[in-house]
Amino acid sequence: MLTSRRGFLRSLGASTAAGVAVRWPLTGASPAVTLEPSRPKLDDGFIRLNSNENAYGPSTKVVEILSSSIGSANRYPRMEYNGLVERIADVHKVKPEQVLLGCGSTEILRVAAFAFLGSGKQLIQASPTFGALEHYARTAASEVISVRLTPTFAHDLAGMLALSSASTTLVYICNPNNPTASLTPRKDLENLISKLPASTFVVIDEAYHHYAGQSGMYASFIDRPLDEERVIVTRTFSKVYGLAGLRLGYAVASPKIIQQMQKFVTEDNINAIVTRAAAAALDDVEAVNDFIRRNTDDRQEFFNQAMARASKPIDSHANFVMMNTFHPAEEVIQHFRKNKILIGRPFPPMDSYIRVSLGRPEEMRTFWQTWDILPYPKHSMHH
Ligand SMILES: Cc1ncc(COP(=O)(O)O)c(C=O)c1O
Repeated sequence: MLTSRRGFLRSLGASTAAGVAVRWPLTGASPAVTLEPSRPKLDDGFIRLNSNENAYGPSTKVVEILSSSIGSANRYPRMEYNGLVERIADVHKVKPEQVLLGCGSTEILRVAAFAFLGSGKQLIQASPTFGALEHYARTAASEVISVRLTPTFAHDLAGMLALSSASTTLVYICNPNNPTASLTPRKDLENLISKLPASTFVVIDEAYHHYAGQSGMYASFIDRPLDEERVIVTRTFSKVYGLAGLRLGYAVASPKIIQQMQKFVTEDNINAIVTRAAAAALDDVEAVNDFIRRNTDDRQEFFNQAMARASKPIDSHANFVMMNTFHPAEEVIQHFRKNKILIGRPFPPMDSYIRVSLGRPEEMRTFWQTWDILPYPKHSMHH
């Protein structure tokens, strides 16, 4: 039986949280070393290809900063908070008043839901897409309209526009999209935004920005902003920077919008350790480029292996791949789970597709060995 992603993550909770410390290559008499024996290990034998994390990160330099920051855990992160906001503003050439930090970009999505949605208001999103905003929209008593992706797995912007009305106060665009790793063309997005009602805000989730850079179809709405008050861009440190376990994301928007959202974040929502790690991660440009290069190689190898098996995944612009198995995804997921590999949950309505986060080469070799022993044909006989 499959449990929900949330329920499943909860069941793994203890070991996942502790694992961050366990993985650090700690030196000398670090306090975490002393604690290690009493902590459950993340190393439970499962290969994790289920959460689109950076399989290699964080970088060595970031790990060093992390180890040396633990001693300041008794202090609130108030001083560091502004420093990090300024640092991020600097990277993006925006004003600090245009940046809002969140406990993961998930907090930013929650805040957007409570700032812009509510009873009688409506969110329009793609289907399938990343589910956090929908979850919080419903919690805020909003209606949610989901519009199927196009046959090329782009957002169906015409369809979304056609369903929008004065009560549509928020549109969610995930680009590249999770779970499909596909892009929606920049010019089409600009066209949509220009046609949406003046009362409609647009969240553009760029969690996978760094993996999309090569495509001419793509440009970040932070790097190439529109002169447009209604656009809110979200980013995260959970992906290319390899800091998913420390929870940090942010929004870039106009000062007015940031002020509106600020009211809904938790006081002191950012921990004192991640502020330092994030600054180090932003400085370590070489490591980011290296992570991107490795992802490009791992992604190419995934496609080579898939093609060799007559499978054709959806073109990927992220650190994960979605692929049609022509078989109920739940059963495929169970097969991998039995073989100690976690892949993404089912993503209805794409019920025969699996989402596979790219792991390290040796993990991916195990993935393909496990694929090869699936007890049924792995591709369509009639397409
Ligand atoms: C598209 C997208 N947005 C946001 C998130 C949330 O990331 P976090 O809260 O770790 O920043 C994820 C995580 O998988 C994601 O795929």
